[in-house]
Amino acid sequence: MIWPKPEVRILGAPEELHWAAAEEFVGQAGQAVGEKGFFTVALSGGSTPRSLYSLLGDRTPFRKQLSWDKVHFFWGDERHVPPEHPDSNYRMALESMLSKVPVPPENVHRIKAESPSAGKAADEYEGTLREFFKLSAEELPRFDLVLLGLGPDGHTASLFPGSEALHESRRLVLAPWVEKFHAYRITLTPPILNNASSVIFLVSGQEKAETVQAILQADPLSKRYPAQLICPAQGRLLWLLDQAAASLLQRPA
Ligand code: 6PG
Repeated sequence: MIWPKPEVRILGAPEELHWAAAEEFVGQAGQAVGEKGFFTVALSGGSTPRSLYSLLGDRTPFRKQLSWDKVHFFWGDERHVPPEHPDSNYRMALESMLSKVPVPPENVHRIKAESPSAGKAADEYEGTLREFFKLSAEELPRFDLVLLGLGPDGHTASLFPGSEALHESRRLVLAPWVEKFHAYRITLTPPILNNASSVIFLVSGQEKAETVQAILQADPLSKRYPAQLICPAQGRLLWLLDQAAASLLQRPA
């Protein structure tokens, strides 16, 4: 399969990156709501998106532009911790955005990672997705937008190098063991991520520059990094980078 080249936008400082991401988010939400009356987004975790969520939730132009009652929030992955745990991706989004905006609680579809079994949490979330998207046994959810981050090792969501989850072709949600954290994670699988209408990688910081360069330039057709598995077949792929994350990219002459 020949992967289409992704769209890459290089911003300056992190603030500009987050502003551009907020504009994309609001634009895509407005289009989806206009076309079908609602917008589905799978949020990414970690530290990078916190500033984006704060922008969307604070009193900036974005907050007013979003029809919050028509947005349905999901998560691309979650740590195997309760929602009040400092490491919870749900807690980060709640604190930075969801607690500040008029989104109906029934529109927030978190991964119930407090379950003693990460596998059960994954199975339950798969059921949540099947029910919300009204899926038949073979159908995949099609998110309007999937937000993803990138780890220095090229992981995205909780798809880490060497993980069995990288080769999953049937399940929607899995709970892989992640040796480096000595913990389970719950994650959407590549087939779901690649079925999205739009995927945005939001990458900031010098510590990502080498991996960004390897993925986007040095070896774009390899599948060495999990993030290279993400290329929506019928959807848009956008890499939003700040100056530091893009600092090793050779600019076109
Ligand atoms: C998570 C994320 C993960 C994250 C990357 C980058 O649960 O941690 O989903 O994939 O996006 O690890 O994390 P930072 O934004 O903290 O660098």
